[in-house]
Amino acid sequence: MRLAGSVAGVAAISVTGVTASAQAPDSTTRGAMPADPATVAMVRQWNGECVACHTEQALLFPPKAGMDLDRLADALMDPFAFNQSQHGGMACKTFHGKGFQDYPHDKQAGDAILGCSECHAKEAFRIQSQLDRSVHARNLSDRFSCTSCHDPHVDRVARDLADARQVVAQDNGKCLECHNSDERFAELGVSLPEARTRPDIDTIHEWLPNTQRHWQAVRCIECHTPASTHSTIAVNHQILDAEQAERNCTVCHSRDSSLNLRLYRWQTEREASELGFLNSAILGDSYVIGATRNVYLDQLAYWLVGLLLAALALHGGLRIIGALVRKRKGS
Ligand code: HEC
Ligand code: HEC
Ligand code: HEC
Ligand code: HEC
Ligand code: HEC
Ligand code: HEC
Repeated sequence: MRLAGSVAGVAAISVTGVTASAQAPDSTTRGAMPADPATVAMVRQWNGECVACHTEQALLFPPKAGMDLDRLADALMDPFAFNQSQHGGMACKTFHGKGFQDYPHDKQAGDAILGCSECHAKEAFRIQSQLDRSVHARNLSDRFSCTSCHDPHVDRVARDLADARQVVAQDNGKCLECHNSDERFAELGVSLPEARTRPDIDTIHEWLPNTQRHWQAVRCIECHTPASTHSTIAVNHQILDAEQAERNCTVCHSRDSSLNLRLYRWQTEREASELGFLNSAILGDSYVIGATRNVYLDQLAYWLVGLLLAALALHGGLRIIGALVRKRKGS
C-alpha cells in the first residue's frame, strides 16, 4: 500500500531528529493555524503546492519532468483524508522544513522533519514511558516508534469521530496493519531472537465467539491495555503481555461495562448527563449482550409488573368480597 510506504518513510526520517532548518513551533500554538477563512485559504494554497506532486495523480501525470517517481511513490498522501485529520488545518511546511520548499528537494531535507514530541511534549513524555513497558519494546525497541501506529496525515482523534465503529476501524487498523500482514510483521520480525512467524489473529482468539464481529465492535486495545486514568489522554499506550490481556467476558458484557470508560468514553461523558440513559451510547451502536440496558426501560418494566400484581390483587380481593356479599344475601 502506497500510503503505508510513505508512513514508513516518515517513521524512518523522524527518528533522525530536528536540524536548524525546522524549528519547534511556538509552544502555545504548536504550529496550529488560526481558523479564520483567510488563513485557512492561505494554508490550503500552500499545501496545494505540495499536493500537486504528492498524490497518485502526479505519478500518472508528473507535473515536472525528471522526477524520481519510485521515491515519490513512497511519499504519497491523500489530501481529502489529510484535510479531515487532526492535523488537517496545519501547513505541511510546519512539519517538513525549508528543505522541501522547492523541487528538487534539498539532499538533507529529510533530516528536518519534526518528531511528534516537538509539539506534543507533555503527552509524549507520559506515552513514551508506557511504550517502554509495552510488549513491543522488549524485542523491537527502537524499530517501533509513534509512527509505527500513527499516521499523522490521516489519524483523527476519537473524540471527533461521531461513530464508535469508525474509531474501532481506525484503531484496529493500526494493529492489524502488522498483525494481519506477514510482510509487515516480517519487516520488524527479523530482529527477533528466534525468527518468529506471525500467529494468526483469529486462531489466537479462538476462545472468543465470532471474532470478526468483535473486531468490528471493539478495539484490540480494550483488552490489551490497562484503562487510562489520565483526564486528557484517553488511551493508555502500554500493550500488555498476552498473559495479562483481558479474557473475562463480563468486563464488557455487563451493566457496568468497561466500554463506558474506554471506547465510549466521549459519548458517555456527553450523553449520560444530558439524557439520563445508562449505556445509551452503546445501545445506539451495538447490541452488547448484558450491557445494553436502559434505566427507564428497567423502571418501566418494574412498574408494569407491579401494576399487574396490584391489578390481580384488586381483582382477586373484589371477587372475594363479592362472593362474601352474595353469600350473606343468600343466607
Ligand atoms: C515538483 C514536485 C514536488 C513538489 C512541489 C513537492 N515535492 Fe516533495 N517530493 C517530490 C519527489 C519527486 C520526491 C521523491 C524524492 C526526491 O526526488 O527527492 C519528494 C519527496 C518528498 C518527501 C520524502 C523525502 C524522503 O526522503 O523520502 C517529503 C517529506 C516531501 N517530498 C515533502 C514535500 C513538501 C512538504 C512539499 C511542499 C512544501 C513538497 N514535498 C513539494 C516532488 C515534489
Ligand atoms: C508541528 C507540530 C506538531 C507535530 C510535529 C505533531 N503534531 Fe499532532 N497536533 C499538533 C496540533 C497543533 C494539534 C491540534 C491540537 C488541538 O487541536 O488541540 C495536533 C493534534 C494531534 C492529535 C489529536 C489530539 C487531540 O487531543 O486533539 C494527536 C493524536 C496527534 N496530534 C498526534 C501526533 C503524532 C503521533 C505526531 C507524530 C507523528 C504528531 N502529532 C506530530 C501539532 C503537531
Ligand atoms: C501500539 C500503537 C501505538 C503507538 C506505538 C503509539 N500510539 Fe498513540 N495511540 C494509539 C491508539 C490506538 C490511540 C487511540 C486513538 C484515539 O482513540 O483517538 C492513540 C492515541 C494517541 C493520542 C491521543 C490521546 C487522546 O485521546 O487525546 C496521542 C496524543 C498519541 N496517541 C500520541 C502518541 C505518541 C506521541 C506516540 C509515540 C511516543 C504514540 N502515540 C505511539 C496507538 C499507538
Ligand atoms: C509495526 C508493526 C506492529 C504494530 C503496528 C503492532 N504490532 Fe503488536 N507486534 C508486532 C510484532 C513484530 C510482534 C512480535 C514481537 C515479539 O515477539 O517480541 C508483536 C507482538 C504483539 C503482542 C504479543 C506479545 C506476546 O506476549 O507475545 C501483542 C499482544 C501485540 N503485539 C498487540 C498489539 C496491539 C494491540 C497493537 C495495536 C495497538 C499492535 N500490537 C500493533 C508488530 C506490530
Ligand atoms: C476480548 C479481548 C481481546 C480482544 C478484543 C483482542 N485480544 Fe488479543 N488477546 C486476548 C487474550 C486474552 C490473549 C491471550 C490468549 C492466550 O494466551 O491464549 C490475546 C493474545 C493476543 C496476541 C498474542 C499472540 C501470541 O504470541 O501468543 C496478540 C498478538 C494479540 N492478542 C493481538 C490482538 C489484536 C491485533 C487484536 C485486535 C484485532 C486483539 N488482540 C484483540 C484478548 C483480546
Ligand atoms: C472488550 C469488550 C468485550 C469482551 C471482553 C467480550 N465481548 Fe463479546 N461483544 C462485545 C461487543 C461490543 C459486542 C457487540 C457486537 C455487535 O454489536 O456487533 C459483542 C458481541 C458478542 C456476541 C454476539 C455475537 C454475534 O454473533 O451476534 C457474543 C455471543 C459475545 N460477544 C460473547 C462473548 C464472550 C463469550 C466473551 C468472553 C469469552 C466476550 N464476548 C468478550 C464486546 C466484548
